[in-house]
Amino acid sequence: QDLSSFNTLGLRSNASALVRYEHAGQLPALSQLAQTYKKVFVLGGGSNVVLAPDLSALVVKVESRGVRLVAESSDAWLVEAQAGENWHEFVGSCVDKGWLGLENLALIPGTVGAAPVQNIGAYGVELEQRIQSVTAWNLQECRLVEMNAEACRFSYRDSFFKHEPMGRWLITAVRFRLPKAWKAVLGYPDLRQHAILAAAGENATARQVFDAVCEIRRRKLPDPAVLGNAGSFFKNPVVSPARYEALHKAHEQLVAYPQDNGDYKLAAGWLIDQAGWKGRRMGPVGVHDRQALVLVNHGGATAQDIAQLAQTIRVDVAARFDVVLEQEPVAIA
Ligand code: EPU
Repeated sequence: QDLSSFNTLGLRSNASALVRYEHAGQLPALSQLAQTYKKVFVLGGGSNVVLAPDLSALVVKVESRGVRLVAESSDAWLVEAQAGENWHEFVGSCVDKGWLGLENLALIPGTVGAAPVQNIGAYGVELEQRIQSVTAWNLQECRLVEMNAEACRFSYRDSFFKHEPMGRWLITAVRFRLPKAWKAVLGYPDLRQHAILAAAGENATARQVFDAVCEIRRRKLPDPAVLGNAGSFFKNPVVSPARYEALHKAHEQLVAYPQDNGDYKLAAGWLIDQAGWKGRRMGPVGVHDRQALVLVNHGGATAQDIAQLAQTIRVDVAARFDVVLEQEPVAIA
């Protein structure tokens, strides 16, 4: 089964078999089928994975659809989306209906079900701030579990699910709690500097935030349909105040964000850019010319090409800044 059109990096990859998950009625049968394979891999939009060329695995492609209002209280909307919903379309439909609070996460590629796995975040909002619960099927134990946000153990681009063995959990649905007391989140520099949002100030609407985020992302990030990529390829590294001070002394322009606990999150894109990688190529892969944190496939690449480039960048950044970069997309072998 050819997976090259099922991963946004566009890597060549073949799996033993592929089955589509569309509704909960299939879950027990899926568990049975899974037992007959050595490995199982649950695939959403394929926008945060680096797929090996040969996957001797059963791929379960999540394609369940549906969005509904579960409850409305005096202070919040409780909205449930099935895992196979396209994330960006879901966010757009919420804004249309007046269920606000996800608009900063517009245009992130992928599905609703994959969003909690890496706790997607952008422009000042992280998914964990809006999640009520995640429903997931344990493929091995044949049981459906509903986990609240605390049980999901969210942190920066991380969750409980990211540490579980591949193929154990199939996230079936996600519930979002969207407070009615909505206020635009405009703290992120790119949003503060956006002409329309700056002019609107406190009166900015969710639609304006949604449109601004789409515009900024289109300006900086490559469209996977045009140029294969998996978004940010590295996490922004978090360092101690002492490390930050030393780095800042040596590099005055260093871009860093203070964290609640006193640590600093460094802009990995800035480090890679400073090391001269922006726009560079290495065989069929390269570094995006407008955002150095994004690795791209210029055509015909495999996971090995990506791994080589990533490792070369890591070594270079470590030598220059003594900072170790951690890969963000999940390597599937
Ligand atoms: N920068 C450079 N050169 C570059 C890239 C960035 O100097 O080539 C500088 C920018 O000028 C800016 C700073 O680095 O001052 C941060 O850049 P940007 O605002 O583009 O965000 P980022 O830290 O590189 C993170 C997320 C993105 C998310 C944006 C906006 C991670 C790993 N990445 O990127 O998420 O869209 O912030 O919130 O946290 C993703 O995870 O796939 C992703 C795209």
